[in-house]
Amino acid sequence: MTKSIVIYNSRGGNTKKVAINIAEGLGAELVQYKKMPDLKDYDLIVLGTWVLAGNPSPHWKKKISKLDPEQLKGKNAVMFICAGGPDNPPLGQGPEAGIIKDLVFELMQKALEDKGAKIAKERLAIPGTFRFFRFGPGTMDKGHPNEEELQQAKKFGESLNKYLK
Ligand SMILES: Cc1cc2nc3c(=O)[nH]c(=O)nc-3n(C[C@H](O)[C@H](O)[C@H](O)COP(=O)(O)O)c2cc1C
Repeated sequence: MTKSIVIYNSRGGNTKKVAINIAEGLGAELVQYKKMPDLKDYDLIVLGTWVLAGNPSPHWKKKISKLDPEQLKGKNAVMFICAGGPDNPPLGQGPEAGIIKDLVFELMQKALEDKGAKIAKERLAIPGTFRFFRFGPGTMDKGHPNEEELQQAKKFGESLNKYLK
């Protein structure tokens, strides 16, 4: 039987909400990145993180860099992110610098390919409310991810079912 899992790294809960919806659409297991099980048992691995200073979160990067390559070798990996402004250039930079989602996906892809994963072309970037304090009120882009964006995440999960046939 083919198995799928969604693994997320979330600071304030936005990425977790997106992960829950992807997992629901896909019918996958859902785990927080610190509780990653033995990935050899899975055929499709969906990995997501929040974005800090134009990068995948440092916790996500560290976790992946320490992973035994046997865990991801030859596996289909799907990436998603939740960022304050996924379609904006990095803070303080102009359009020539590119946009957050492209820059972050490139870094994630490199980290995952270093571990032998096969990166799926499907990827998802969802906006998330910026919180200066972890569980404090939103300070920018309030209200994200909204209901429509969470439905988008669920549909994204459903669309990944083709990897399990
Ligand atoms: C210290 C800090 C730095 C951030 N840097 C960026 C950034 O460079 N680009 C961006 O789009 N969002 C940035 N964000 C916004 C978060 O990525 C966004 O709020 C995300 O939805 C948080 O997800 P979480 O609730 O799962 O932790 C930053 C947030 C914090 C707290």
